[in-house]
This record gives sequence, C-alpha cells and structure tokens, in this order.
Amino acid sequence: MNRPPARAAIEVMRGYYDAIAGSRSMFAFLSPVRLHGWVADAAAWAGQAAHVAEIGVGQGELAARAVAQSQGIQTYDAIDISAAMLEATRQRMSPLRISTTVRFHQLDIADTAACRTLGLDRFTRMMAINVIQDVDAISALANIRRMLQPGGLLRATVIRRETQDRFWLDDDAYDSTTGQLYTSSTMHDLLGLPPLGLRHSGHAEKAFYRVQQFYTEVETRELFNAAGLTIVSMSVIEFPVEFVRQRWSSSLHRIALTSRQESLLEEWGGYPDAYDVVAMRPRVGPERATPVG
Ligand SMILES: C[S@@+](CC[C@H](N)C(=O)[O-])C[C@H]1O[C@@H](n2cnc3c(N)ncnc32)[C@H](O)[C@@H]1O
Repeated sequence: MNRPPARAAIEVMRGYYDAIAGSRSMFAFLSPVRLHGWVADAAAWAGQAAHVAEIGVGQGELAARAVAQSQGIQTYDAIDISAAMLEATRQRMSPLRISTTVRFHQLDIADTAACRTLGLDRFTRMMAINVIQDVDAISALANIRRMLQPGGLLRATVIRRETQDRFWLDDDAYDSTTGQLYTSSTMHDLLGLPPLGLRHSGHAEKAFYRVQQFYTEVETRELFNAAGLTIVSMSVIEFPVEFVRQRWSSSLHRIALTSRQESLLEEWGGYPDAYDVVAMRPRVGPERATPVG
C-alpha cells in the first residue's frame, strides 16, 4: 500500500469531496441525515442552542433543516474542507427565509491554527455527522473542544467498527486488524482524479481515495476521553435493511452481497452502522478561558 504525506492527503480528500458535491444521488453517503426521524431529531437538538457550528456539512441537509426548524439559532457556522460542499449547502439554504446568520468556512477541522481563527469558547452546540472517519480524529476533537463554550455539547457520529469488522470481513478493501476501509470509486477513476494510493486487489492494483477509520465502543470512549470531552450519551444508529439494500443496488455503490452478509442482515434486522455520541466540554478544565461566574 503506498500513501502520500498528510498535506497531500488533505488535497486528495478535498478533490474527492468536491467531485461528489454535485451528486444528486440520495445514496451519495450512508448518512443518518437521510433518515427522516434522525435528521428531525438532530435539527431539533441543534435548535436548542444560540450559536451552532456544523463540521463536514456535506450537501447541507442538516444545516438547512436545523435553521428552518428553529427560531432560536442566532448563528450557524458551516465548516467543510470542500469549497464545493460549502457551495452546495449555501444553495440549499438560500431559498430559506430565516433570521439566523449563516457563515461558511473552508478549513480542515484537524488544523488547530485554522480553527483558532473561528474563535475559542464560542459555540454552544457543535455537530460532526459522518465525518470522524475521515479526519485526524484526536486533533479534530481537541479543536472542537476548544471552540465549544465550557459546558457546550458536541453531537458526532462515529462509524461502528463492531459492525464493519463482521460485515466486510471478506472484502480486500477492509483491514479488520486496524478497522480501516480503503475506499475506491469508479466515479473518481473516470474523472481521472489523483488517488491517495494504490492497493492490491486480486491480480490488479486499485486506486483508493479515502482511508476511513472505524472505532469500537471502547475505542470511541478512549478517543473522546483523550480529546478532553465527556461522553453524555451514546446510542447506535441502525439503517433499515431496505435502505442499505437500495444503496448497494444503486449505480455508484453496487455490491453483490455474499450469503454471509445476507445472513448478518437477517440476524441484525437492520444495519447498525454508527454510534450517535453526545459529548460535553467540561465546565472546568485546563483550557477554560473565562472564569466560572
Ligand atoms: C461523508 S461526508 C458527510 C457529509 C454530511 N455530514 C452527511 O452526513 O451527509 C464528509 C464531509 O466532511 C467533509 N470533510 C472531510 N474531511 C474534512 C476535514 N478534515 N475538515 C472538514 N471537513 C471535512 C467532507 O468534505 C464532507 O462534506
């Protein structure tokens, strides 16, 4: 497996997501923002705060829903590494009649200096949905902690390694010893975009554009703890079997399920893809900027 250095990897990631931003496919991501009940709940959760930031806004489904649904959000900061994703979000939000001030920031959430330009101790609630698998998670979570007000909350989803370890066991793009998925893409191959690296697949070499990192429950707890965030709640997001079947029969994500995978779907009765984590920046801590009143 050959891979470029970190800065070049960020450029590949930006190009990868820029290329997806215009996709009209409902299945561009296996994201809970596509589940009606979940996105309504997450939007209502954000709506309880005055100053909200969302990292990795994608095509803006959650952002648009949150500001349209809530009267209470005064500012909404949309953060993404991809200019095209930010533009897709801006376009989705532009017809909305809202009083919220919406700002857009193109930056890498793992870049501490860039995050500082947004301000420390600033946001009441932050969200990072379907993003943690793509980033330097410890740096990203530590930056989020610094941007949150003391006592402020983060809602993040983390792709559940217990599920992926079993489901992708026989797939040569998945390394169950590390919980990493080497993501290839016919669409990006056809566009001729530079890949992150090449991996052996059968007798050929296959380009990959992302390396997604998945976490077990224990690893997730350790990660948040190491970043100085206290987990308040953690539940499992389960996609209906019909939903994942539709994604995996869509043109860009087609896979032929093995009989072992079919049995797992039957056993699980759904696809338990991710952890839904709410975590708090402790009210007192070494980086608290304002005294407790
Ligand atoms: C899998 S998509 C999820 C989008 C959306 N939250 C959803 O659930 O549909 C990941 C998003 O995170 C953004 N992203 C990836 N790496 C990032 C980074 N290092 N900093 C900020 N955003 C990043 C991507 O551009 C993309 O919009």
